[in-house]
Amino acid sequence: MMQTQMLIDEAVETLQTQIDDTAIIACSGGIDSSVAAVLAHRAVGSLLHCVYVDTGFMRKGETDEVREMFNDMGIEIKVVDASDRFFNSLQGITDPEEKRKIIGEQFIRVFEEEQRSCGAKFLIQGTIAPDWIESGGGERDVIKSHHNVGGLPEDVDLTIVEPLHEFYKDEVRIIARELGIKSSERQPFPGPGLAVRVLGELTRSRVEACREACHIVETGLLQAASEGKCEIPWQYFAALLPVRSVGVHGDTRVHGETIVVRAVTSLDGMSAKYSPIPHEVLAKISTEITNALKGQVNRVVYDITHKPPGTIEWE
Ligand code: XMP
Repeated sequence: MMQTQMLIDEAVETLQTQIDDTAIIACSGGIDSSVAAVLAHRAVGSLLHCVYVDTGFMRKGETDEVREMFNDMGIEIKVVDASDRFFNSLQGITDPEEKRKIIGEQFIRVFEEEQRSCGAKFLIQGTIAPDWIESGGGERDVIKSHHNVGGLPEDVDLTIVEPLHEFYKDEVRIIARELGIKSSERQPFPGPGLAVRVLGELTRSRVEACREACHIVETGLLQAASEGKCEIPWQYFAALLPVRSVGVHGDTRVHGETIVVRAVTSLDGMSAKYSPIPHEVLAKISTEITNALKGQVNRVVYDITHKPPGTIEWE
């Protein structure tokens, strides 16, 4: 704990030397951005403007939970509903890398607007080591452009500060616990949110289906774990696949899309093993998903791929 406190003190001191004017940070409520925000708030107090961008890709109930969490920590947070803008700019786009780039750019544009309104000169990001290593940092090939790195336009007029640049997920979690951040025990959630779990076009109704399925997987596995049926996986969620197969509703044959359930164990997200979830738990989750998404989803499958060769997310 002493060592963690030293890391925190060091990070705060470094931030104090880096930031000498108004700073802005996107707080998604996830561990990475929350830790970065609390460290920056400790370092520069009211110079920091925390903004929560509702992209339309957040989990069920997440916006209210994040607002409450920051309020409880005495940090003011501004909620910006930018979902129309995200959905409009992504219309008809199905290529995964293009989607990520657009999301990154829109994110930064929203930020520029917020920056102009508060006059921020610094942008604080919760980028952690795997984000840049997998985005082609060092000697590695570009595996994917993480939104905090790849989508950044070149004309951005802000100095980027990344206090967690050298840390891995497990280290960030330990720091989060030490800082008393409520979401520190929550599973990791990617920056672009549900957007990387909805393969194909990002429409409101497809994202809503994925949101509901993620909620069912999350609550189903937490309940199963509380009943001693399985361990809580490191990460567990649903993705919506644009694969239409035939199903049957009463006497009618209906074509619907596919939900894939993903649950993995991992230490830092760099590698992962799929989690062996008991079949009775999977069956319950499957029934709940097809009941909740009648007509839209008629097939649920379980992903049994490790990382590598797969990744944890589907896009
Ligand atoms: P993958 O899918 O690459 O994910 O095996 C490894 C870990 O990173 C999360 N992830 C992201 N986090 N921005 C983020 O901040 C992103 O674009 C992104 N893509 C994946 C993923 O949820 C997992 O925890």
